[in-house]
Amino acid sequence: MKIAILGASGQLGSDLRECLNGHELTAFTREDFDVRDQPAALEHLTRIRPDVIVNTTAFHQVDLCESRADDAFAVNTVAVYGLAAIANRLGAKLVHISTDYVLSGDGSRPLSEDDAPCPVNVYAQSKLAGEYVVRNVADRHLLIRTSGLYGAAGGAGRGGNFVETMIRKAGNGEHARIVDDQIVSPTWTGDLAPQIASMLDNDLEGLFHASAEGSCSWYAFATTVASLCGLAASFTATTSRAYGSPAPRPAYSVLENARLERLGLNRMLDWRDGLARYLQVRHGIAPGAPHP
Ligand SMILES: NC(=O)c1ccc[n+]([C@@H]2O[C@H](COP(=O)([O-])OP(=O)(O)OC[C@H]3O[C@@H](n4cnc5c(N)ncnc54)[C@H](OP(=O)(O)O)[C@@H]3O)[C@@H](O)[C@H]2O)c1
Repeated sequence: MKIAILGASGQLGSDLRECLNGHELTAFTREDFDVRDQPAALEHLTRIRPDVIVNTTAFHQVDLCESRADDAFAVNTVAVYGLAAIANRLGAKLVHISTDYVLSGDGSRPLSEDDAPCPVNVYAQSKLAGEYVVRNVADRHLLIRTSGLYGAAGGAGRGGNFVETMIRKAGNGEHARIVDDQIVSPTWTGDLAPQIASMLDNDLEGLFHASAEGSCSWYAFATTVASLCGLAASFTATTSRAYGSPAPRPAYSVLENARLERLGLNRMLDWRDGLARYLQVRHGIAPGAPHP
C-alpha cells in the first residue's frame, strides 16, 4: 500500500513511520507543507498518489485553543475539509485521528462509538467539527478516536510529554499539583501505531475508538510513573476547579473500543502495560525491576 503520513515527526506520526515501514511510505512534516495550505497539500499528495492519507496533525494545545479558536478550527476542521477533498480527488482513503475529548460521560461506564458527543471546550468542538467533515466529505475514511497520547517523539526538545514532565519533576524533587478528578485512558503511541496498522491491513472504514484499556486520573497516572521509575515524587492531588486551567476538560472521557472488540481486532492493552513498556523502551527500566 502507498501511504502518506502527515504530522510525521509528531508522537503518533513517528511511531506510525516505524510501524508502517513495510508499506511504501511517504512522511510529511510541517516543513514539507502546512496542512492549512490546500494547494501545497494537493501538489505534494498528487505527486505520490497514495492509497491512504493518514492525518495526525492537530492544533491540540487545549488551553491555547480557547483564545485561538480561529487557529484551532483552521487546523482541526478547515484543513481536514481540504484533505478530505484531496483524498476524494486521488481516490485515497483518509485516516484521521480524533480525541476522547469530544465525549464526556458521568463515569458510570466507558463511552462507545454510539455515545453522543458532548464537547466541553474549543479544542473538542474543533475536533468534533473535523470528525463531521471526515464523515460527510471523505468518500472512504477511517476515523479513530484515541486519548491521552504520549510517545518518544514528545520527549525532550519538543516540549515533553506528560510522562517525561512527571519524571523530570519527580527527579528534581519539584512539587506538582495534579488533577485527580479527570479520568482518562493514557495511551502509548507505541501501542496505538500497531493497532492502526492492523486496522489498515483489515481495510476498516468508519468510526472507531482505540485507546488503552482501563482508566485512571492524571494524578494516579503521575504517581504510577514516579513509582515505576523508583522516584519519590512530591505530587499532590487537586481538583480541576482549584487547578483553574483556561479550558474546561471532561471529567470522564474513557473510551470503550467497542467496534474493534466486536470485530475481534482490539489489540490495545491496559494503560499500565503500555506505560511499563514505554519506560523500558525509552529509559531502559525493566518492568518490575528493583530500583536503585
Ligand atoms: N496528544 C494527546 O494527548 C492526544 C489525545 C487524543 C487525541 N489526540 C490526537 O492525536 C493526533 C496526534 O497527536 P500527537 O500527540 O501525535 O500530536 P503531536 O505530537 O503534536 O504531532 C502532531 C504533528 O502535526 C504537526 N502539525 C501540527 N499542525 C500542523 C500544520 N498546520 N501543518 C502541518 N503539520 C502540523 C506537528 O508539527 P509541529 O511539531 O511543528 O507543531 C506535529 O509534528 C492529533 O490529531 C490529536 O488531536 C492527541
